[in-house]
Amino acid sequence: MNYAAITGWGMALPERIVTNDDLEQFVDTSDEWIQTRTGIRERRVAQPGERTSTFATKAGQHALAQAGLSPKDIDLIVLATCTPDRPFPATACTVQANLGIPAGAVAFDVAAACSGFVYGLQVVTSMLRAGVARNVLFIAADIFTHYINWQDRNTCVLFGDGAGAVVLQPSQEAYGQLSCVLGSAGEHEDLMAVEAGGTRLPTTPELLEEGRQYVYMQGREIFKYAVRDMAASSLQAVEQAGLQPSDIALVIPHQANLRIIEAIAKRLKMPRENIFVNLERYGNTSAASVPIALVEAVEQGRIKDGDHVLLTAFGGGLTWGSAVVRWGREGLIAR
Ligand SMILES: CC(C)(COP(=O)(O)OP(=O)(O)OC[C@H]1O[C@@H](n2cnc3c(N)ncnc32)[C@H](O)[C@@H]1OP(=O)(O)O)[C@@H](O)C(=O)NCCC(=O)NCCS
Repeated sequence: MNYAAITGWGMALPERIVTNDDLEQFVDTSDEWIQTRTGIRERRVAQPGERTSTFATKAGQHALAQAGLSPKDIDLIVLATCTPDRPFPATACTVQANLGIPAGAVAFDVAAACSGFVYGLQVVTSMLRAGVARNVLFIAADIFTHYINWQDRNTCVLFGDGAGAVVLQPSQEAYGQLSCVLGSAGEHEDLMAVEAGGTRLPTTPELLEEGRQYVYMQGREIFKYAVRDMAASSLQAVEQAGLQPSDIALVIPHQANLRIIEAIAKRLKMPRENIFVNLERYGNTSAASVPIALVEAVEQGRIKDGDHVLLTAFGGGLTWGSAVVRWGREGLIAR
């Protein structure tokens, strides 16, 4: 059985920065409340004309360059997103066209909200290991602020936009995803949702008037499940990889709330310095949160070849997932 080593990585963010002080100007909140309850100081927000594919394409370009591959080498493009450019076609097809990846490559989207990167990693790893794909571009990108009502302080302080991407290639050595534990709980589908715009409630002027095109969320409930399910699936993923928590060099958690991350660290009995956090600069970037953190951790030298890295995420659905990845790119199988 081949492994699916991560051989390239990249990220892209909107240039526009919205600080907590900026939010204070138009909604009843404070920098103090946001920092104490979430750890977030600022976030990046897409501007008119910028689409999910804008950032997905840039992140994909960086990942291809890092891997030393050209667009014609790619035979599978998967994009994890819950904010596609359009209901259809898949935004992965738009990225294929933007990057000049030749026709015949396979392109599709995966929707698992903030768990999208861990879900998609399992999908692409499985396809690569099954031999139905060779050089894979896997991107997670969201413009979650598309769903934000900037008057709703319960949600508008939490989210930001961006994209992260990885390239995966077959390797004979045990690199890439070694284990993965995914789960969903549809019974809690209503804890966090966007009501209008789908087939259940097609958009009408009345629904728009009521603001039903925006995300609503029961934050406190989600908080509890996020801690429970990310911690439990993390421990399972570590065990499934034949490891102990002490073997994990770095944890890359979904960047939703610093208090959630600290509670998970406690359950995993992990020292704080082994947990990567960048949410103070980006907020919750939905599916893009884990790969943006992964890319920054690599660029800061926090991940070295041979390290075991634990990825863990949680999102609407409810969905959650954890994966152990071994970093490195030796033993690549020649094309
Ligand atoms: C949303 C979240 C930050 C709220 O923190 P919390 O400590 O649970 O706060 P509560 O919801 O209990 O609200 C406490 C008070 O702060 C108020 N509040 C909420 N947002 C506020 C804001 N931006 N500024 C100031 N006050 C705010 C609430 O109205 C409430 O006031 P009340 O007690 O008078 O009713 C937290 O629950 C959370 O992060 N949950 C997970 C959400 C998430 O990550 N979702 C995405 C999953 S991928």
